[in-house]
Amino acid sequence: MTTETAAPAAVDDRSAVGGPDLPQERRLVTEIPGPKSRALQERRTAAVASGVGSVLPVYVAAAGGGVIVDVDGNSLIDLASGIAVVSVGNSAPEVVDRVTDQVAAFTHTCFMVAPYEGYVEVCEALTRLTPGDHAKKAALFNSGAEAVENAVKIARVATGRPAVIVFDYAFHGRTLLAMTMTSKVVPYKQGFGPFAPEVYRTPAPYPFRGISEDDAIAALKHLFKGDVDPQSVACAVLEPVQGEGGFIPMTPDFPKRLQELLDDYGILYVNDEVQSGCGRTGPVWAIENWGVEPDLLVSGKTLGGGLPLAGVTGRAEIMDAVPPGGLGGTFGGNPLSCAAAIAILDALEGQRPRAEKIGARLRERLEAMAPEGSEVRGIGPMVAIELPERTGDETSRITREAREQGLLLLSCGIYGNVIRILVPFTIGDGELDKGLDILEGLVRGG
Ligand SMILES: Cc1ncc(COP(=O)(O)O)c(C=O)c1O
Repeated sequence: MTTETAAPAAVDDRSAVGGPDLPQERRLVTEIPGPKSRALQERRTAAVASGVGSVLPVYVAAAGGGVIVDVDGNSLIDLASGIAVVSVGNSAPEVVDRVTDQVAAFTHTCFMVAPYEGYVEVCEALTRLTPGDHAKKAALFNSGAEAVENAVKIARVATGRPAVIVFDYAFHGRTLLAMTMTSKVVPYKQGFGPFAPEVYRTPAPYPFRGISEDDAIAALKHLFKGDVDPQSVACAVLEPVQGEGGFIPMTPDFPKRLQELLDDYGILYVNDEVQSGCGRTGPVWAIENWGVEPDLLVSGKTLGGGLPLAGVTGRAEIMDAVPPGGLGGTFGGNPLSCAAAIAILDALEGQRPRAEKIGARLRERLEAMAPEGSEVRGIGPMVAIELPERTGDETSRITREAREQGLLLLSCGIYGNVIRILVPFTIGDGELDKGLDILEGLVRGG
């Protein structure tokens, strides 16, 4: 543990103010976790179900720019963004202003009961930003998992077919159908069966592990011969850059070839951009990197700027297949989340140059530190390093020791051996480099 400042400037965790004005420097004033965090951890152990985990052993008082300040006054570098959410930074002024105005006006009427402009405005922006010149419509939900499930519901009604194709290394969420569609047993599936029916899995390209684009296409054709009649398939759901599965970008022609194959059978292409979307790879949607126009696009995470919001956007005739009342929910498209989303969607184009600059820096640094037999991969600032060992032990050591040194990092991948970088684009160059210095030291074994 490195303690850099002797006098702890303890933060009053009930009145702390975050946002970009928070001093942007890593600063450790206690061990990690400090005494206040340890006390909260005891209360948590007594009150919070153990199935809900946390990566960081400290409790947050404030966050902003590229740092998280804990209740003991430690300031940690944030390379996680709340799992790909706060791209514009925590408590970003544009989000705070809009949400504050909205709180004062009204907090909830339920769009299904008494509609409001914010919901319509977010759907207008999503339909405008989603690839394709065709007519589009959108619907809003609370979480990525809920939106994925609704995309499948829409595809089933629009095609009149039950089956769903998903891929190895996929992550689509934790609710029943989304969990069934997810491709990692521990901790997401073990003991949670029976799973939803009519979900068929096939490999996606993963060259580092020997699955080429041709292999993946051949496997899908084989699936249609051996396991499921393509005429009974409503949709295939694919992340353009698989997130939890290990930051695995699709190969250059796979989305196009997949779309052609699906079109042959009238199967809809659902593009899950919950993690890769809203600028995480540079452009608004990762799929723009492949020039493909999917039938439905699922967004979430960054969309709400830290408030819960997810969306399904797609061809108008497909979206309109479901009769009124079939989609929605009490809180879906809550006014506060919509207010935040308007600020986020407005900010997307402006943040792209910074995102790309960060992406270039990350790749350069990760490639320089990558040990033999590892792979650095990803697109723009959505990059990761897959370490050569398969067990995840080394990755756990790195992420644990990083936390002790004031750096928040996340791992991913079925084997847990991938370190992924999900940086808020508001991080300063200095803190980014400091974080990468810590990572480099740990990757090199120090
Ligand atoms: C690609 C993808 N889809 C769906 C989800 C589920 O989103 P949520 O956790 O908001 O339910 C996630 C979450 O990590 C995701 O990465």
